[in-house]
Amino acid sequence: MLCKRSLQGLRQPGFQTLSRRFLSVTHEDPAPGTTTANIVDQELGNIIGVYARYPLVMSHGQGSYLFDKEGRKYIDFTSGVAVTSLGHGHPEVARLAGDQCTKLVHSSNLYYNEPAIELSSKLNNSLAQNSKISTPSKIFFSNSGTEANETALKFARKAAYETNGEGKSQIVYFNNSFHGRSLGSLSITANPKYRRGFEPLLPGVVQATYNDIESIKQVINDKTAAVIVEPVQGEGGICPANAEFLVALRKACDKFNASLIYDEIQCGLGRSGDFWAHSIVKDQASPDIITVAKPLANGLPISATIVSSKVAETLHAGEHGSTFGGNPVACRVGSFCVDELSSSKILNNVRKQHNTLTSRFAEFTTKYPSLIRGYAGRGLLLGLQFNQSPTDFINIARKQGLLLLPGGNNNTRVLPSLNVKDSVIADGLDIMDDTLKHLSK
Ligand SMILES: Cc1ncc(COP(=O)(O)O)c(C=O)c1O
Repeated sequence: MLCKRSLQGLRQPGFQTLSRRFLSVTHEDPAPGTTTANIVDQELGNIIGVYARYPLVMSHGQGSYLFDKEGRKYIDFTSGVAVTSLGHGHPEVARLAGDQCTKLVHSSNLYYNEPAIELSSKLNNSLAQNSKISTPSKIFFSNSGTEANETALKFARKAAYETNGEGKSQIVYFNNSFHGRSLGSLSITANPKYRRGFEPLLPGVVQATYNDIESIKQVINDKTAAVIVEPVQGEGGICPANAEFLVALRKACDKFNASLIYDEIQCGLGRSGDFWAHSIVKDQASPDIITVAKPLANGLPISATIVSSKVAETLHAGEHGSTFGGNPVACRVGSFCVDELSSSKILNNVRKQHNTLTSRFAEFTTKYPSLIRGYAGRGLLLGLQFNQSPTDFINIARKQGLLLLPGGNNNTRVLPSLNVKDSVIADGLDIMDDTLKHLSK
């Protein structure tokens, strides 16, 4: 049976306990004829089926909780895939977005844009203080992580072209990487599952082995324009980069005059426990380009490609652009998010909740060795690694009111909001424990 605490506020009237043998399943998938089933049917006829969705329709969220159309409450340990770092329904996010909507939603990139300038100066100042990217850095705004990486590849190629002419265009990426779905960013995304059917992709891309210094020596040379790396790999299986590996990448890029690109789209902006995930290496491995997106405006679409002054100098009017990039609503909210996500209140909470989660994960590893291989990650970008696929675990936890994410290499990703409360973490961990107990029988 579930322990009492994990059910507080989660068991909803009208939902039966369907499996008394092991667990109290309070959130069974909605039956035919329910509101949810009808919405699912409508989607099937209208929207391309590229998403393998769970049979849930979310109606609203509050803090670390989501509520579905059937009125059921879930603990959200996904944060919309590392997006809603300040939780759902944040009053200041709503206020700023509403206020900006009444003033100016869009005016195009023909004119100067105050919210974008304010946000860019906050990001640039933070980098100057914490990361030592060759200052002053400069920013290009777009709308998704994929676009930010696509932009990074273009800018790195342009910098190589301006300094070395044609022929210096090779891009190095790593196994288990995830950088997006456009043809360019897909070319540097390792998982063959995402690439199949879309090839040929970008020529001149070379894969190396993550955290393996020897492997980079074999692929980085004077044809290399850029190396792109996630300081903590997310999608491909939670795996933090070693500091020595990042330093070796920096040295190799310096030797061959290539741009080092950090993709901090999932691991950046506080999620790792530091505002910039790469700041653990400080000025020993400063990047030339950084990409951020997901939590930058807590769910409004926005991304940024941040480049060193050296790269910025190689770019001129008309060489890149985006209709929506730098959208005033997203940027206005983004400025607030940067202030909050870089505050010691949030970063201390990330470290505290990291400790609570990982000490229970250590317990799970000892208690359930047939299921759990171990755990890894930084801050609130954590992976509980199973011996086999965690699909059953994730499905059963969901039916008990806890939302979790799959990740590569048999990981269950645990990504709560960065302002998550102690009691929510405790409840989520209890549900995980109950689910593991059930599966270990
Ligand atoms: C590290 C990383 N890069 C890029 C992307 C692509 O971002 P988007 O889905 O916003 O295009 C993701 C998305 O999960 C990601 O985790």
